[in-house]
Amino acid sequence: MSDAPRAAELRELLRRHNHAYHVLDQPTVDDATYDLLLRELQSLEEADPALRTADSPTQRVGAAASTAFAEIAHLQPMLSLANARDIDELVAFHERVVRLLAAAGIDEPPTYVTEAKIDGLAISLLYRDGVFERGATRGNGEVGEDVTANLRTVRTLPLSFGDPQAPTLVEVRGEIYIPRAAFDRMNDERAAHGLPVYMNPRNTAAGSLRQIDPRQTATRPLALWCYAVGVLDGVAFASHHEALAWLGARGLPINPLTAVHRSIESVVAECARIGELRPSLPYDIDGVVVKVDAIAMQQALGSVGRDPRWAVAFKFPATTRTTRLLDIRVNVGRTGALNPYAVLEAVEVGGVTVRMATLHNEEDIHRKDVRVGDTVIVQRAGDVIPQVVGPVLDLRPDGAVPFAMPERCPACSEPIVKPDGEVQHRCLNLRCPSRGLELLRHFVSRGALDIEGVGDKLVARLFELGLIARPSDLYRITQEQLEGLDGFKERSAANAVASIAASRGRPFGRVLFGLGIPHVGEVIAQAVARHFGTVDRLAAASAQEVADVEGVGSVIAEAVVGWFADADNAALVADLVALGVNLELGADERLAVGHLTGTAFVITGTLSVPRAELEARIVAAGGKIAGSVSACTDYLVAGEAAGSKLAKATRLGVAVLDEAGIVQLLAASA
Ligand code: IVH
Repeated sequence: MSDAPRAAELRELLRRHNHAYHVLDQPTVDDATYDLLLRELQSLEEADPALRTADSPTQRVGAAASTAFAEIAHLQPMLSLANARDIDELVAFHERVVRLLAAAGIDEPPTYVTEAKIDGLAISLLYRDGVFERGATRGNGEVGEDVTANLRTVRTLPLSFGDPQAPTLVEVRGEIYIPRAAFDRMNDERAAHGLPVYMNPRNTAAGSLRQIDPRQTATRPLALWCYAVGVLDGVAFASHHEALAWLGARGLPINPLTAVHRSIESVVAECARIGELRPSLPYDIDGVVVKVDAIAMQQALGSVGRDPRWAVAFKFPATTRTTRLLDIRVNVGRTGALNPYAVLEAVEVGGVTVRMATLHNEEDIHRKDVRVGDTVIVQRAGDVIPQVVGPVLDLRPDGAVPFAMPERCPACSEPIVKPDGEVQHRCLNLRCPSRGLELLRHFVSRGALDIEGVGDKLVARLFELGLIARPSDLYRITQEQLEGLDGFKERSAANAVASIAASRGRPFGRVLFGLGIPHVGEVIAQAVARHFGTVDRLAAASAQEVADVEGVGSVIAEAVVGWFADADNAALVADLVALGVNLELGADERLAVGHLTGTAFVITGTLSVPRAELEARIVAAGGKIAGSVSACTDYLVAGEAAGSKLAKATRLGVAVLDEAGIVQLLAASA
């Protein structure tokens, strides 16, 4: 088959993306996808040069500039930065700096300034006699666009220095950006009005700054960080950090993630620290800029082409990509909630391969208007699970249809209902196999009964064979039944039966959690267990009495009472009790001395013990567990690979404990 049709298709796609990116500032795909398409076309043209047309996007870089704004020649070229993709490249940069300085007769070790690399749009601001006169985009580095009127609408941009001693001419360089929360609000509003969502805050900032009508720009939540001085008359600085301090003193916003370092080791540590902070920052950054501090050294180092040799950008992986939405599937959870999720063509986002993403509920899918077959924008911010931001409407295939929730449960074919006031669709059939299986999986899971050797797979097989339907059935499984299954020998079957039997003695709170009562998570289950002491007392309680438990609100209380009121659930509890499963508080738990009473904990990261176990021990000592860090948190327990919570705790000055620290605190008596 000839490659000509594919080449023509690629040319057309690239032409459209190019126009969208450069002229409309409304990119339709991310950079990596664009590069892939371009490379595919390049390789087709290399294999068959006859396919190379004069208008092929491989034959030129960039697109025609918008003609809406007057051109401004920069007084000094606006440089770009070479990248360091990893620590080795960062160290290589430092070694080159040291070598070049030595060659210039400077033996002193360089001091560096690190700054967050703001993911926005570079601009140049000219202040004459301390008054903002003119502002321009970077353009091609030599010539930019005059966006003065639009820049005046940026609230954090000072229109004057308020300094009678101001130098005649100062050129300030910085980055225009849109804070993340404001961007999300804009996209939510657009989606609600059926408008295409924006790809990312950076391009939206660029588009907003290049509005023809400044009144439009004024409605956009643009913000500014300044990071350099360009042309300057009448003042001289010995170092970059002095220049920044000088700008800051004149009201120009300087990003707080700016620091001076005396060694490359300290620079490396700062890159790691800023990388950890990244998910919790209120704006997007895509790396750390490392600059040689001494101006004399910068001059000695000079630049090659567009890149100064005295600075480098340590880049973080991209967190937004586009990919194809292959299917929308629906999963039935153990409480009967229907959870739609996206099946995606595998794509690497922020260093992780993403194949699935949650779609929350039907409303969310309609609000975003994502359809099977769409090219969608996928985002992964830090440790947050992947999200589908929205579709690339330009690339929607013909005939793509809006998603509809199934009218009948995909697992049991019973009708699906959507209770008033809820966004979730539910299968109400208590015997729905999917619900039953999910409940069984939950029951044996780590935070609940934690039955070793009985995992998801075995549970699914026993369920399919009709050997178990409810959690209590597990305790009736015999060694002989297991021996009849593939992969089981006498010994492993005996072990599995023994670990099922051993789970009967798990603490009441964990068994209660294992029952899968809607809204009752590990912590609530533990608190409820401690409050009521036995399952009989809990089953007899009113919603008001359940709501008396600390941390339990009326929604949870109603859910608990409703659950026990159901005859099937009551039968399950009776069955479990009859089989010897523990449903009351042990004497030791009741007597626990609460030396941590009133102390609030948040746990994050990976620990060597199950998180449920640690939480149970903290609660047993009187402590409280919260899901997110706030000023009310007393301790953050941070395991390996802790991310945004650690960053937030550090910012708020919350005490941080590692695993050894919490173990020690638990061991200490009141
Ligand atoms: S310094 C020679 N500092 O990154 C200095 N740039 O890849 C050139 N950027 O065009 C720029 N934050 O738009 C510098 N703290 C920072 C920055 C920063 C973001 C952008 C800027 C520049 C691009 C270079």
